[in-house]
Amino acid sequence: MPRQGIIERYRAYLPVTENTPVISLMEGDTPLLPAKNLAKKIGAEAYELYLKFEGMNPTGSFKDRGMTLAVSKAVEKGAKTIICASTGNTSASAAAYAAQAGIRCAVLIPSGNIALGKLSQALMHGATVISVNGNFDDALTLVKEAAEKFPVTLVNSLNPDRIEGQKTGAFEIVDELGEAPDFQFMPVGNAGNITAYWKGYKEYCDRGKCINLPKMMGFQAAGAAPIVSGKPVENPETIATAIRIGNPASWKQAEAAKTESAGVIDSVTDNEILDAYKILAATEGVFCEPASAAGVAGLIKYLKAGKLEKRIAKLRIVCILTGHGLKDPECAIRSIEKPVSIAPSMDALKSVLFASA
Ligand code: F0G
Repeated sequence: MPRQGIIERYRAYLPVTENTPVISLMEGDTPLLPAKNLAKKIGAEAYELYLKFEGMNPTGSFKDRGMTLAVSKAVEKGAKTIICASTGNTSASAAAYAAQAGIRCAVLIPSGNIALGKLSQALMHGATVISVNGNFDDALTLVKEAAEKFPVTLVNSLNPDRIEGQKTGAFEIVDELGEAPDFQFMPVGNAGNITAYWKGYKEYCDRGKCINLPKMMGFQAAGAAPIVSGKPVENPETIATAIRIGNPASWKQAEAAKTESAGVIDSVTDNEILDAYKILAATEGVFCEPASAAGVAGLIKYLKAGKLEKRIAKLRIVCILTGHGLKDPECAIRSIEKPVSIAPSMDALKSVLFASA
């Protein structure tokens, strides 16, 4: 089958008509990798474990699913400028889709707290990049107000078209497994993605594509876990800058997904996130960004605590790896051993290659 973007593939499930211009970079159709090595490493052999690698989207994150629809609908309505606040990935995606659409894009980012890869994307795609001396929540407050006052279209996940596009991640999983998984583990930041997946699963079930719904298992970083603590976090802090968010826009919807699915929203520490990040790369050859590893860190935490239901027939677990590790190489380099340095001689090479442990 020739590659299609998510709008063409799931047209019947999306708010588009033949008059909607399709702005696409052929997003979606990302790998659902069986993760046997990881299962063995973390003691999940009693489950069927899969990784949905959303880092394989055109701009390297799941945001492209929502952005193709949000930008297409914005162009349909005559928008000339889109705007967003972002911890990095939304800005990279918005900038790329705006470039293809030939419209302007302005992105507000928290100063000093976005991964370099993401910043380089927004700049290269020609966005107006505005660094805010505040955090993501401050930037989001600003863009929401700007979208009310000026002729600019907001493309954060408060825009319902973003959620509509992102729900296609759930469709792909069901299409591939033939049924919804039993558990879905994922990171939670502004809480749009957990909202979108839950909507996707419910709609696909309503349309007869699946019978079961997964338990939604969302994980925030411990230093940025407002939903877990039940109150906004004024100064969120975590190494996983993508989810460094203290007052999520889709807070209520995320809680609804948790409650309706009998799932959880819990937190994982930065150390747990970094461990999962390294294990994923070293056991499965999958390099995701730190925030993406939060779901897997949550899985490890729940397995260790014996908190995950088990059955004789293996239950299925899908972890959503939301973004690519190459977005934030600095974090990788900081958290792993440095390369060995040698003189340009065979003796030196030999001594490293065959060093006894
Ligand atoms: N993982 C990555 C890699 C992200 O970039 C984000 C959010 C999330 C997880 C959390 O998803 O917000 O829908 O709960 N990034 C946003 C951004 C906030 O601006 O790029 P969420």
